[in-house]
Amino acid sequence: MRRPIRIAVTGAAGAISNNLLFKIASGEMMGTDQPVIMQLIEVPGRMEALRGIAMELEDCAFPLLHTITLHDNVEEGFENIHYALLIGAYPRGPGMERRDLLEMNAEIFARQGKALNDFANRDVKILVVGNPANTNALIASRNAPKLSPSQFTALTRLDHNRAKGILANHTGANPKNISRIVVWGNHSTTQYPDLHHATILDEPAMQQISEEWYRSVYIPKVQQRGGEIIAARGQSSAASAAQAIVDHMHDWVLGTSPGEIVSMGIFSDGSYGIQKGIVYSFPVRCDYGRYQIVKGLEINEWGLQQMRLTEQELLDEKSAVNHLLPTATAASHEDLSICLRSGVTLYADGTGPQASSKYLTTNRVL
Ligand code: LMR
Repeated sequence: MRRPIRIAVTGAAGAISNNLLFKIASGEMMGTDQPVIMQLIEVPGRMEALRGIAMELEDCAFPLLHTITLHDNVEEGFENIHYALLIGAYPRGPGMERRDLLEMNAEIFARQGKALNDFANRDVKILVVGNPANTNALIASRNAPKLSPSQFTALTRLDHNRAKGILANHTGANPKNISRIVVWGNHSTTQYPDLHHATILDEPAMQQISEEWYRSVYIPKVQQRGGEIIAARGQSSAASAAQAIVDHMHDWVLGTSPGEIVSMGIFSDGSYGIQKGIVYSFPVRCDYGRYQIVKGLEINEWGLQQMRLTEQELLDEKSAVNHLLPTATAASHEDLSICLRSGVTLYADGTGPQASSKYLTTNRVL
C-alpha cells in the first residue's frame, strides 16, 4: 500500500465539494491504490455542516480514506498538503458575469496564496476553481514566492468537458470517441472552444459539422453554459464541476491517455503569442505528474482573433487586481520557458535547488 497523500479542499461543505469528496475518497481522482488524508476547510459558520459531511464520508467506509481533519482557517488546513483544491469563494448568481466576483474573491485568494507558501508541502499542486478562476490562480501564485508558478492551475476542464458533451450530443458520437478538443483562454464567456484539431472516431470533427453551427450555435453554447445552468437551477453547476476537478487532477497526476489533449489553465510561457504573466487555458499533455503545452497547432486568422479576445479579458482582469500582486513576484511569473525536447519544464523562478549547486540545476514541474 502506498503512503497516504494530503489533499486540502476549501469550500468543503459547499455544493461542488458535496459531489467531489466522495469521488476523491473512492479513489476516482488519485487512483484506486492511493490512500488519502482529507484536510477539509470551511468558514467558521459552516463548520457544523462540514461535520455532517465528514460523518457521511466516514459512513461510506471507504478503504482509501485514511484520515479526515476539519479546519476553519487555511493556515491550519494547508499544513503539509500535497494537493490543494481551492473551491471556496462567493458564487455568481443569475445575471452576473464571473468577473463581477473579482473584487469579492481576490482577497481570499491572496490570503490562500500566502498560506500555501508558508504551510504547504513545497511540491504542492494547486487547482483553483473559485471564480474568476484564472485570475484567482494568478493572485494566489503571485502571493506565494517560494512556490513555482507551474504549481498553480485553474479549472477549464469543465469547459473542455462541456465542449465534448455538447459536440457528442449534436453528432450522436460517444464522448469517448471524441479527442483533441482545445479550450483557449479564460473560464468565462470569452473562452474559445476550438474544434479545428478535434477528431470524432479519428476523422476531423470540423468535417462532420457545419461551420455555421460551429460559430453561431456551438461556441456561444459552450461559452454560456455556466450561466445557462445558473438560470435553470438557481445555483451554479456542482456535479459537473466536481467531475471536471477529478478529471483535471487525475490527468495532471496520473497522465493523459496516449495522443489525447486536455485543456488546463496554466501560466503562459509565451506559446502561441499569448502574453506571459497571465493564467490562460492551453492544450496540454501530462505525464509523470507534469504538464506540457502542445505546440505547433495551426490556428487560422479567425481563431487567433478569438484567442486574443480572451487574452485581453485576462489582461484587464489582471490590471483590476494589480494592487494584490506583489511586485517582488512579477519577474518570476514572466520569465519562464518551456523546454519540450528534454521533456522537462524549466522555470527560471529562483525556487528549487540552490543556484550555488556546482552541477546543473533545473526546476522541474512537479
Ligand atoms: C460554471 O462554469 O458552471 C461555474 O464556473 C459557475 C459559473 O459561475 O458559471
